Amino acid sequence: MENSFLIKTQDLVKTYPMGHTKIFALNGVNLNFRPGEFAGLVGPSGSGKTTFLNIVGSLDSPTSGSAVVMGKKIEDLSHKQAAWLRNQNIGFIFQTFNLLPVYTVYENVEFTLLLLKMSAEERKDKVMQALEWVKLADRAKSKPAQLSGGQSQRVAVARAIVKEPSIILADEPTANLDAENSFNILDTMEELNRELGTTFIFATHDEKVIKYLRRKITLVDGKVAKDEALEQKKVKGGNQ
Ligand SMILES: Nc1ncnc2c1ncn2[C@@H]1O[C@H](COP(=O)(O)OP(=O)(O)O)[C@@H](O)[C@H]1O
Ligand SMILES: [Mg+2]
Repeated sequence: MENSFLIKTQDLVKTYPMGHTKIFALNGVNLNFRPGEFAGLVGPSGSGKTTFLNIVGSLDSPTSGSAVVMGKKIEDLSHKQAAWLRNQNIGFIFQTFNLLPVYTVYENVEFTLLLLKMSAEERKDKVMQALEWVKLADRAKSKPAQLSGGQSQRVAVARAIVKEPSIILADEPTANLDAENSFNILDTMEELNRELGTTFIFATHDEKVIKYLRRKITLVDGKVAKDEALEQKKVKGGNQ
Protein backbone atom coordinates (compact mmCIF):
# COMPACT_ATOMS: atom_id res chain seq x y z
CA MET A 1 0.00 0.00 0.00
CA GLU A 2 2.74 2.45 1.04
CA ASN A 3 4.29 2.35 -2.39
CA SER A 4 1.09 3.15 -4.20
CA PHE A 5 1.26 6.77 -3.04
CA LEU A 6 2.93 9.30 -5.27
CA ILE A 7 2.88 11.88 -2.49
CA LYS A 8 2.56 11.25 1.20
CA THR A 9 2.76 13.90 3.90
CA GLN A 10 2.90 13.29 7.62
CA ASP A 11 2.33 15.97 10.26
CA LEU A 12 3.57 18.57 7.81
CA VAL A 13 4.25 21.88 9.54
CA LYS A 14 5.53 25.13 8.09
CA THR A 15 5.91 28.18 10.25
CA TYR A 16 7.03 31.71 9.49
CA PRO A 17 8.29 34.08 12.17
CA MET A 18 6.06 37.06 12.88
CA GLY A 19 7.42 39.44 15.50
CA HIS A 20 7.85 37.44 18.68
CA THR A 21 5.45 34.75 17.59
CA LYS A 22 5.03 32.61 14.47
CA ILE A 23 2.47 31.95 11.77
CA PHE A 24 1.51 28.34 11.11
CA ALA A 25 1.13 28.29 7.32
CA LEU A 26 0.71 24.50 7.62
CA ASN A 27 -0.23 23.02 10.95
CA GLY A 28 -0.04 19.22 10.80
CA VAL A 29 -1.12 18.20 7.31
CA ASN A 30 -1.52 14.50 6.50
CA LEU A 31 -2.39 14.01 2.86
CA ASN A 32 -1.70 11.19 0.41
CA PHE A 33 -2.09 11.28 -3.35
CA ARG A 34 -2.22 8.33 -5.72
CA PRO A 35 -1.04 8.37 -9.35
CA GLY A 36 -3.60 9.81 -11.73
CA GLU A 37 -5.52 11.98 -9.27
CA PHE A 38 -7.20 15.23 -10.32
CA ALA A 39 -7.35 16.91 -6.94
CA GLY A 40 -7.54 20.41 -5.57
CA LEU A 41 -6.72 22.25 -2.40
CA VAL A 42 -9.38 24.83 -1.76
CA GLY A 43 -9.86 27.26 1.08
CA PRO A 44 -9.63 30.94 1.82
CA SER A 45 -6.62 33.08 1.05
CA GLY A 46 -3.88 32.43 3.60
CA SER A 47 -5.03 28.88 4.40
CA GLY A 48 -1.74 27.30 3.27
CA LYS A 49 -2.51 26.10 -0.27
CA THR A 50 0.55 27.62 -1.95
CA THR A 51 2.81 26.59 0.93
CA PHE A 52 1.68 22.98 0.52
CA LEU A 53 2.27 22.96 -3.24
CA ASN A 54 5.69 24.55 -2.83
CA ILE A 55 6.78 21.88 -0.36
CA VAL A 56 5.56 18.89 -2.35
CA GLY A 57 7.07 20.56 -5.42
CA SER A 58 10.43 20.65 -3.60
CA LEU A 59 10.65 24.45 -3.94
CA ASP A 60 10.50 24.79 -0.18
CA SER A 61 11.07 22.53 2.83
CA PRO A 62 8.92 21.91 5.90
CA THR A 63 9.67 23.20 9.40
CA SER A 64 8.79 19.75 10.73
CA GLY A 65 7.04 16.63 9.59
CA SER A 66 7.61 14.80 6.38
CA ALA A 67 6.72 14.96 2.69
CA VAL A 68 7.63 11.93 0.58
CA VAL A 69 7.32 12.60 -3.14
CA MET A 70 7.98 9.71 -5.51
CA GLY A 71 9.88 7.94 -2.77
CA LYS A 72 12.07 10.95 -1.92
CA LYS A 73 11.92 12.69 1.44
CA ILE A 74 11.70 16.39 0.57
CA GLU A 75 13.12 17.45 3.94
CA ASP A 76 16.30 15.43 3.35
CA LEU A 77 17.07 16.58 -0.20
CA SER A 78 20.02 18.82 -1.01
CA HIS A 79 19.35 21.75 -3.36
CA LYS A 80 20.77 19.72 -6.19
CA GLN A 81 18.64 16.67 -5.42
CA ALA A 82 15.53 18.84 -5.09
CA ALA A 83 16.25 20.42 -8.48
CA TRP A 84 16.70 16.97 -9.98
CA LEU A 85 13.34 15.77 -8.61
CA ARG A 86 11.60 18.87 -10.02
CA ASN A 87 13.30 18.71 -13.39
CA GLN A 88 12.46 15.07 -13.89
CA ASN A 89 9.06 14.68 -12.35
CA ILE A 90 7.19 17.87 -11.56
CA GLY A 91 5.60 20.52 -13.75
CA PHE A 92 4.39 23.86 -12.40
CA ILE A 93 1.62 26.15 -13.62
CA PHE A 94 1.25 29.55 -12.00
CA GLN A 95 -1.43 32.22 -11.87
CA THR A 96 0.76 34.71 -13.75
CA PHE A 97 1.91 32.30 -16.51
CA ASN A 98 5.61 33.18 -15.90
CA LEU A 99 6.70 33.01 -19.53
CA LEU A 100 10.07 34.44 -20.52
CA PRO A 101 9.23 37.48 -22.67
CA VAL A 102 12.28 37.56 -24.93
CA TYR A 103 11.87 33.94 -26.02
CA THR A 104 9.40 32.50 -28.49
CA VAL A 105 6.60 30.15 -27.52
CA TYR A 106 8.71 27.28 -28.84
CA GLU A 107 11.75 28.32 -26.77
CA ASN A 108 9.68 28.81 -23.63
CA VAL A 109 8.49 25.22 -23.87
CA GLU A 110 11.88 23.85 -24.95
CA PHE A 111 13.66 25.54 -22.04
CA THR A 112 12.62 22.93 -19.49
CA LEU A 113 14.00 20.13 -21.70
CA LEU A 114 17.46 21.71 -21.89
CA LEU A 115 18.07 20.48 -18.35
CA LEU A 116 17.44 16.90 -19.41
CA LYS A 117 19.76 14.85 -21.56
CA MET A 118 18.02 14.92 -24.92
CA SER A 119 19.00 15.48 -28.54
CA ALA A 120 17.83 18.60 -30.39
CA GLU A 121 15.68 16.42 -32.61
CA GLU A 122 14.03 14.68 -29.69
CA ARG A 123 13.40 18.06 -28.06
CA LYS A 124 11.75 19.33 -31.22
CA ASP A 125 9.38 16.37 -31.37
CA LYS A 126 8.42 16.79 -27.75
CA VAL A 127 7.93 20.57 -27.94
CA MET A 128 5.75 20.33 -31.06
CA GLN A 129 3.72 17.53 -29.52
CA ALA A 130 3.15 19.57 -26.34
CA LEU A 131 2.11 22.59 -28.43
CA GLU A 132 -0.32 20.38 -30.33
CA TRP A 133 -1.80 19.12 -27.08
CA VAL A 134 -2.64 22.71 -26.11
CA LYS A 135 -3.64 23.60 -29.71
CA LEU A 136 -0.92 26.20 -30.22
CA ALA A 137 1.40 24.53 -32.73
CA ASP A 138 0.73 27.39 -35.17
CA ARG A 139 2.01 29.96 -32.65
CA ALA A 140 5.42 28.35 -32.04
CA LYS A 141 7.26 31.40 -33.37
CA SER A 142 5.22 34.02 -31.52
CA LYS A 143 6.51 35.93 -28.52
CA PRO A 144 4.46 35.91 -25.29
CA ALA A 145 3.50 39.59 -25.78
CA GLN A 146 1.66 38.60 -28.96
CA LEU A 147 -0.58 36.14 -27.11
CA SER A 148 -3.81 36.54 -25.18
CA GLY A 149 -3.99 35.52 -21.52
CA GLY A 150 -5.70 32.27 -22.48
CA GLN A 151 -3.01 31.46 -25.03
CA SER A 152 -0.24 32.36 -22.56
CA GLN A 153 -1.63 29.94 -20.01
CA ARG A 154 -1.83 27.27 -22.71
CA VAL A 155 1.89 27.77 -23.34
CA ALA A 156 2.47 27.39 -19.60
CA VAL A 157 0.53 24.11 -19.69
CA ALA A 158 2.67 22.95 -22.64
CA ARG A 159 5.82 23.90 -20.72
CA ALA A 160 4.61 21.92 -17.69
CA ILE A 161 3.61 18.82 -19.67
CA VAL A 162 6.43 18.69 -22.25
CA LYS A 163 8.70 16.46 -20.16
CA GLU A 164 5.69 14.26 -19.31
CA PRO A 165 6.12 14.64 -15.57
CA SER A 166 4.32 12.42 -13.08
CA ILE A 167 2.90 15.42 -11.24
CA ILE A 168 1.64 18.84 -12.29
CA LEU A 169 1.09 21.43 -9.57
CA ALA A 170 -1.17 24.30 -10.63
CA ASP A 171 -1.46 27.29 -8.30
CA GLU A 172 -4.58 29.36 -9.09
CA PRO A 173 -4.15 28.68 -12.82
CA THR A 174 -7.42 30.37 -13.83
CA ALA A 175 -7.12 33.46 -11.64
CA ASN A 176 -6.19 35.68 -14.59
CA LEU A 177 -8.47 34.08 -17.18
CA ASP A 178 -12.04 34.77 -18.26
CA ALA A 179 -14.65 32.02 -17.99
CA GLU A 180 -14.29 30.72 -21.54
CA ASN A 181 -10.50 30.44 -21.34
CA SER A 182 -10.77 28.89 -17.89
CA PHE A 183 -13.03 26.12 -19.18
CA ASN A 184 -10.84 25.57 -22.22
CA ILE A 185 -7.69 25.17 -20.17
CA LEU A 186 -9.48 22.91 -17.68
CA ASP A 187 -10.74 20.71 -20.52
CA THR A 188 -7.15 20.45 -21.78
CA MET A 189 -5.75 19.58 -18.36
CA GLU A 190 -8.44 16.99 -17.76
CA GLU A 191 -7.66 15.44 -21.15
CA LEU A 192 -3.93 15.27 -20.32
CA ASN A 193 -4.81 13.70 -16.97
CA ARG A 194 -6.93 11.09 -18.70
CA GLU A 195 -4.64 10.33 -21.63
CA LEU A 196 -1.20 10.58 -20.03
CA GLY A 197 -2.18 9.66 -16.49
CA THR A 198 -0.50 12.82 -15.16
CA THR A 199 -1.47 13.62 -11.58
CA PHE A 200 -2.82 17.16 -11.21
CA ILE A 201 -2.99 19.00 -7.90
CA PHE A 202 -4.54 22.45 -7.92
CA ALA A 203 -4.61 25.25 -5.40
CA THR A 204 -7.71 27.28 -6.11
CA HIS A 205 -10.78 29.00 -4.83
CA ASP A 206 -12.34 29.24 -8.31
CA GLU A 207 -15.71 27.45 -8.52
CA LYS A 208 -15.04 26.70 -12.19
CA VAL A 209 -11.96 24.67 -11.26
CA ILE A 210 -13.74 22.98 -8.37
CA LYS A 211 -16.38 21.62 -10.79
CA TYR A 212 -13.65 19.65 -12.56
CA LEU A 213 -12.03 18.16 -9.45
CA ARG A 214 -12.50 14.54 -8.55
CA ARG A 215 -11.20 15.23 -5.07
CA LYS A 216 -11.61 18.42 -3.06
CA ILE A 217 -9.44 19.06 -0.03
CA THR A 218 -10.45 22.02 2.10
CA LEU A 219 -7.69 23.75 4.05
CA VAL A 220 -8.50 26.09 6.90
CA ASP A 221 -5.72 27.76 8.91
CA GLY A 222 -3.12 25.30 7.66
CA LYS A 223 -5.18 22.22 8.51
CA VAL A 224 -7.22 19.79 6.43
CA ALA A 225 -10.83 20.59 7.33
CA LYS A 226 -12.40 18.28 4.76
CA ASP A 227 -11.27 15.75 2.15
CA GLU A 228 -14.04 14.65 -0.23
CA ALA A 229 -14.41 12.63 -3.41
CA LEU A 230 -16.56 14.58 -5.85
CA GLU A 231 -19.14 13.62 -8.41
CA GLN A 232 -18.40 15.19 -11.77
CA LYS A 233 -20.86 18.09 -11.88
CA LYS A 234 -19.48 19.95 -14.81
CA VAL A 235 -20.92 20.12 -18.28
CA LYS A 236 -18.18 19.34 -20.77
CA GLY A 237 -16.79 22.13 -22.89
CA GLY A 238 -16.20 25.85 -22.66
CA ASN A 239 -19.49 26.98 -24.15
CA GLN A 240 -21.64 27.16 -21.10
N1 LIG B 1 7.38 33.77 2.83
C1 LIG B 1 6.48 33.98 3.78
N2 LIG B 1 6.80 34.73 4.88
C2 LIG B 1 5.90 34.94 5.87
N3 LIG B 1 4.64 34.45 5.88
C3 LIG B 1 4.27 33.71 4.81
C4 LIG B 1 5.16 33.44 3.72
N4 LIG B 1 4.50 32.66 2.82
C5 LIG B 1 3.27 32.48 3.32
N5 LIG B 1 3.12 33.09 4.51
C6 LIG B 1 1.93 33.07 5.37
O1 LIG B 1 1.51 31.72 5.51
C7 LIG B 1 0.11 31.61 5.42
C8 LIG B 1 -0.29 30.67 4.29
O2 LIG B 1 0.06 31.28 3.05
P1 LIG B 1 -0.20 30.61 1.62
O3 LIG B 1 0.32 29.23 1.64
O4 LIG B 1 0.33 31.54 0.61
O5 LIG B 1 -1.81 30.56 1.57
P2 LIG B 1 -2.81 30.45 0.31
O6 LIG B 1 -2.04 30.00 -0.88
O7 LIG B 1 -3.86 29.50 0.77
O8 LIG B 1 -3.38 31.83 0.12
C9 LIG B 1 -0.43 33.03 5.28
O9 LIG B 1 -0.75 33.53 6.56
C10 LIG B 1 0.76 33.77 4.71
O10 LIG B 1 0.69 35.14 5.05
MG1 LIG C 1 -1.81 30.88 -2.73
